[in-house]
Amino acid sequence: MLDLTTHSRHDEARQGETYAPFANDPNQYNKKFYIESYGCQMNFADSEVVAAILQEDGFGATRNFEEADLILINTCSIREKAEQTVRKRLTELRKVKQDNPGALIGVLGCMAERLKAKFLEEEKLVDLVVGPDAYRTLPGLVTEAESGQKAVNVLLSREETYADIAPVRLDSNGITAFVSIMRGCNNMCSFCVVPFTRGRERSRDAHSIIRECRDLFSNGYKEVTLLGQNVDSYYWVDGSVPGGETVNFANLLERVALIDPSLRVRFSTSHPKDITDEVLYTMVKYENICRYIHLPVQSGSTRVLQLMNRTYTREWYLAKVDRIRAIMPDCGISSDIIAGFCSETEKEHGETLDLMEYSCYDMSYMFFYSERPGTLAARRYTDDVPEEVKKRRLEEIVKLQNRLSLESNQRDLGKIFKVLIEGDSKRSADDWRGRNTQNKVIVFPKGNAALNKGDYVMVKVTDCTGATLLGEIVPA
Ligand code: 5AD
Ligand code: SF4
Repeated sequence: MLDLTTHSRHDEARQGETYAPFANDPNQYNKKFYIESYGCQMNFADSEVVAAILQEDGFGATRNFEEADLILINTCSIREKAEQTVRKRLTELRKVKQDNPGALIGVLGCMAERLKAKFLEEEKLVDLVVGPDAYRTLPGLVTEAESGQKAVNVLLSREETYADIAPVRLDSNGITAFVSIMRGCNNMCSFCVVPFTRGRERSRDAHSIIRECRDLFSNGYKEVTLLGQNVDSYYWVDGSVPGGETVNFANLLERVALIDPSLRVRFSTSHPKDITDEVLYTMVKYENICRYIHLPVQSGSTRVLQLMNRTYTREWYLAKVDRIRAIMPDCGISSDIIAGFCSETEKEHGETLDLMEYSCYDMSYMFFYSERPGTLAARRYTDDVPEEVKKRRLEEIVKLQNRLSLESNQRDLGKIFKVLIEGDSKRSADDWRGRNTQNKVIVFPKGNAALNKGDYVMVKVTDCTGATLLGEIVPA
């Protein structure tokens, strides 16, 4: 995953979608905003919160930035490349000002937090800079920027979860939605900028999560993905119950699963140190909790994991994979892997390849290490693996994953899966595209069956590529 614009998780999740129009009618509002999102699913979810805040303030969404009064870009800082992509895009978007000098440009999200007022002062690229915990102040900041003032709010919060804000779904297929259950991260992995850009971890009110999921279901959605940097550390105390009732991630999953058996529940991301048997057994108990776990390993070497501050060893990780397979033999597992972290040797890189092979990942997001200013690794370690070595190791990792993905798909040949139809396939309106519980994409001919997106259908796998299963509808 070298270029976030084209390879972000969201893009992969939604590739080829025929999007429904925005939920609101932009003509009913006096001002228009345009928003573009980069990076992780959390950023895409945040943009929907921002859309709700702006809509409340009289802004309607537009897909055409040239007609917008307010252009926002929700940014990612995770790797240097991600930031470069955003800078390039900002330079392009700024050209709008030639025709429409009144248009305001704002940068939101992790880059806003990381670079703060530098954007306004040194780079003069934007009019507004708003960090991930300051979106409620956007209307006031827009007013300030309109009057020519510098509009910056990058305060991080220990409490903000935007719990009461009903997100306005942007670019939605009307079937699957992300629901943010917590914000921030306390883990301090040494390579990662997220704890600095998104602040301390906090969990959202469980009632508001259930309410949002219920509303989605009553509006025709069939799948929710519960989002957090580390969902397993979700923990919320219900003060309205005498003595205070605690809700952990397993409890939350169960509550969401109970909304309706036909509402699929997914979650991301799990941390190998925190995922519990209780979560695994809750998954087993409910057919509608999808058999899929994104369990980032980062490295297969215990020494490197220690430098990364991941707080588990290679053996611990492998025991988790064994545990998942013992409890749910049919569970899909995917990973994140970093090639060429500080001081990584050839042997340690080999341990990563070996661990991937053992874990039989169905899919992985793979990166080479990119030093981020301010992180523990940037302060303590030397980024000493040469770029060409990093790239070569990454290539080896990608090549292996391609083989593992193909083998995983080949093992599914002849199997029958329950598939949730998400829309037309990318290639042809004669084919449906959906997913099985393991999160694999399946494409199959529509035939004469009277089906719609959002329906479940049984599909037999007849062929595959490394990325997609191909199949045919079979009687339920
Ligand atoms: N360099 C490369 N990859 C990184 N990630 C996070 N920080 C960095 C970095 N500095 C990767 C990790 C994480 C994913 C979201 O991004 O694999 O799990
Ligand atoms: Fe970053 Fe680690 Fe937190 Fe993930 S768990 S956001 S990699 S610090």
